Order: sequence, then C-alpha cells, then structure tokens
Amino acid sequence: MTEPSRTEVLERWNKHAEAYAARFGPEGDPARRMWLNRPLFELLGPLAERRILDAGCGEGYLSRLLAERGAKEVVAMDAAREMLRLARERTPENSRVEYREGDIQALAGLEDASFDLAVSNMVVQDVPRHDLALSAVARVLKPGGALVFSILHPCFQAPGAGWDFDDQGRRLRWRMGRYFEEIPTEDELAPGTDIRTFAYHRTLTNYFEAIASAGFVVEALVEPRPQLPPGAERPADYDVWKQVALFLILKVRKPI
Ligand SMILES: C[S@@+](CC[C@H](N)C(=O)[O-])C[C@H]1O[C@@H](n2cnc3c(N)ncnc32)[C@H](O)[C@@H]1O
Repeated sequence: MTEPSRTEVLERWNKHAEAYAARFGPEGDPARRMWLNRPLFELLGPLAERRILDAGCGEGYLSRLLAERGAKEVVAMDAAREMLRLARERTPENSRVEYREGDIQALAGLEDASFDLAVSNMVVQDVPRHDLALSAVARVLKPGGALVFSILHPCFQAPGAGWDFDDQGRRLRWRMGRYFEEIPTEDELAPGTDIRTFAYHRTLTNYFEAIASAGFVVEALVEPRPQLPPGAERPADYDVWKQVALFLILKVRKPI
C-alpha cells in the first residue's frame, strides 16, 4: 500500500474512537489485561512523586491507572481529538491526569527535561517516524529518566503474519510474515472487529538504531506471555495464544 498521509492516519483514529474505546474497561481491553499491564507496571517501577508522560494515551485507561496508583502528575498526549474527548469523559474531575492534544513525534509544548518517566503503550509502531518520537521523549525526560514502550513484536507481526486455521476454524499455528519488508500496513486492530488502522512494520535493527540515536540505553526487554486475570474465564484457544510472542516491551533510559 502507499504511505497514508498524516490526515488519513488521524481520521482513522477519530472515526474508530468510539468502537475502540467500547472495548476498554478500567484496566483496558483483553490484550492489555492479559499481556501488557502487568509487565508495563513492573518495568515502570515506583510511581510516587513521579511526573509521568503517557505518549499516545488513547482513551486514557493507562493514564488513569498511573494516577490511581500514586503518580504525582500524568500528562497524557494523543493526536486524535475524538480519543481525547472520550479520555476526558472517562476521567474523574479531581484526577491528576492532564490531557493534551499533540503529536508524539514532536511533543510540542512539553518542556525539556521535565518528566521522571514516560510510557507509550502500543503507539510507536503506529507513527511514521518512530525515530522522531523516541528523540522527542528523550528530550522531555530528565537525565536518568526512563521510557517504557510496548509495540507489536516486530519478528512475529510483520506484513503477512497471522493465524492459520483448521477446517473447523480452530487456530492451528502462527504464520511468519515478510520480516524485512518495512512498509505501512492497514490491519484489524483486534481480531473480529472492523476497526482498521495503520501501522508501520520495522525490523528490530531499525528500532535499536532509533533507540541509540535518541541517546537511550536499553535496560530491559520483555516478551510478555498471556496471563489470565484473577477470576477470568479461560479462553478456548488460550494454549495456542501461549505459543506466540505477540508483543515486545522495552525499557530504555536517558543517561545521567
Ligand atoms: C493502539 S492506540 C493505543 C492507545 C493507548 N496507549 C492504549 O494503550 O490504549 C494508538 C493511539 O495512538 C494515537 N496516535 C497515533 N498517531 C499519533 C501521533 N503521531 N501522535 C500522538 N498520538 C498518536 C492514536 O490516536 C491512538 O489513540
């Protein structure tokens, strides 16, 4: 496919904001509850007294959790106006979350060296210039501050990757994609929905180059496995899901 324009990318997020947010409860959607939340919070570490940036906050569940769990202040930025409208609606008046409209590839209006921590949950693969997003976050972090970000696992979510099904529609195995094809893709955001948004596949090499040129040092890499939240029913194909690394989470630090 040809490169989507910035307007097309944002129109998609605005158009699907309601449907996207409808899948989210206080702890996010199933992928966040089963794969992402626990390792994200473990990697972020203590939140008390921390001023935290949520870059690409969406409907804001993670910003609200950060505030509820003790962050001093959360600045949550997203470029899609409809997402921000829903985020504000879902956030109590007295919350320590402040929403801003803006592009994470620039973080305009945010001061240099003003955050202790930053998080970006499933956003960096959605922007055309991940290198600019990483440099912008490095700019606004204090020396010694850290960024935790999750992305689609570049090795297993390349263009063309996905499940192969048997005759009865059961998941059989995961198909590898075209790893070295660094192109934008237009995919269903979650299986079975018609929420189609754009993402940019990049190799691990490309991510590591961007991390290094932003001046970050990699501190941790996590390939989360699904974990059922307490009391949750076991999905029929849970054992097959457990075979695949769908997501990658990195913690990178700005040196002192
Ligand atoms: C997959 S959603 C993730 C949202 C949220 N972090 C979460 O975990 O629910 C991606 C979000 O990135 C936002 N986004 C896409 N491109 C952006 C950009 N250049 N700057 C800021 N936000 C952007 C979209 O509007 C959308 O809310």
